[in-house]
Amino acid sequence: MLPASLNSPATFTNGAYTIQGLNLADLCEKFGTPFYLYDLDYCVGRYRFLHDLFDLPNVRLHYAVKANNNPHLLLALKESGACLDVVSPSEVALALALGFDPSRLLYTANNMTDAEIRLIRDQGLLLNIDSLTGLRRYAKLYPNTELCLRFNSDVVAGEHEKVMTGGDKTKFGIRLEKVDEVLDIVHASGLKIVGVHEHTGSGITDPNQFIQGMKNLLTIVTPARFPDLRFIDFGGGFKVPYRPDEKRIDYVAFGQKVSAMLRAFFADFGRELALYFEPGKFIVAEGGLLMVQVNSLIENKTRLIAGTDSGFGHLVRPVLYNAYHHILNVSNPKGAAKTYDICGNICETGDLFAEDRGMPEIREGDYLALLNAGAYGYSMASDYNLRPKPAEVVVQNGKAFLSRKPHTPQEIVSNVLLQSGLK
Ligand code: LLP
Repeated sequence: MLPASLNSPATFTNGAYTIQGLNLADLCEKFGTPFYLYDLDYCVGRYRFLHDLFDLPNVRLHYAVKANNNPHLLLALKESGACLDVVSPSEVALALALGFDPSRLLYTANNMTDAEIRLIRDQGLLLNIDSLTGLRRYAKLYPNTELCLRFNSDVVAGEHEKVMTGGDKTKFGIRLEKVDEVLDIVHASGLKIVGVHEHTGSGITDPNQFIQGMKNLLTIVTPARFPDLRFIDFGGGFKVPYRPDEKRIDYVAFGQKVSAMLRAFFADFGRELALYFEPGKFIVAEGGLLMVQVNSLIENKTRLIAGTDSGFGHLVRPVLYNAYHHILNVSNPKGAAKTYDICGNICETGDLFAEDRGMPEIREGDYLALLNAGAYGYSMASDYNLRPKPAEVVVQNGKAFLSRKPHTPQEIVSNVLLQSGLK
């Protein structure tokens, strides 16, 4: 019943699951479940791998903070030279507090108010504007400044319809055919367009769709239209496997194809431009696990239900996107196969991590590891039912430490009362 491929920094050695030699069940005893566990060295390795794929002189990866805003992770990526894709005033404030220079941040929020535009611009960040109305407002507020423009790649791709950002069923990006309207506004206001951007979707299943999105954007990029251009940003969306039997995309081949395509494009354009990407999942999804404990086994006529000390307030992807997360029984890895619904402690029937899942026998008290939980896990967590978000534990250089504490019930209540003026 052991999966063929774990798609994870966890390995099965000497009868136990470990990360960097640390036994996962021991970590659960030590830190107390539920907690997210991140292997930072693994994530940094993913960053380096992706960065070095492209045989081009100037490549920048803007890690998408929305995927995982753990501060120790951000610091490790900063040390490795990463830049950031940031999408809200708080993400910007966190990045600056951690010592990122504003020049390493690109701000790609959508539906911004004028106040938000001012707040971000006045902190020295370059903005990426994704609509004609946003462009008109930005041009009034900050004429004669530098700007990046987000276009709609017109490719519909991604691993779930809720995360596809190209085509006409999405709010993102200026349509490519509007480029002349864009340039009228740009010329009238003296704006300098230093970057153009597109992001087709998250978890793009076919690399050819990724490349098609890039090609579509390149059709409008000429030196006459964009004389001040310094970079082209092709967003994120690098898919990682979630199921043990899922084939890995050959990103080495992708890197070679993209490098050749861009070298040819730069030759036509007349000069080299910087190439940006904004990976989130690729860097952190597989490097993170959600560790939980089963406290109740419930038999309900046709179903065997394993109830854990976590729930969709901690990892919402299965509920929101029907996402598959592989689950290991780290306490009983060689137990006889049985089938379970695995759920949490939230007061909703839909609070399921997995349905009809075959796995080694689960006993009350067993620890489970939900794999591929590093991206859009903690960052999408809530305190629904007023249960706190879980802790975050980090493994780095063979050592594990508590990176972010969960709130206590007292802290949650005290916040509620403070926010309501009742304290
Ligand atoms: N750049 C932009 C402009 C984006 O909107 C996103 C993701 C990224 C980069 C990073 O995409 P990635 O490399 O992580 O696929 N919560 C969903 C994913 C939402 C993605 C939102 N935008 C999930 O859990 O699947």
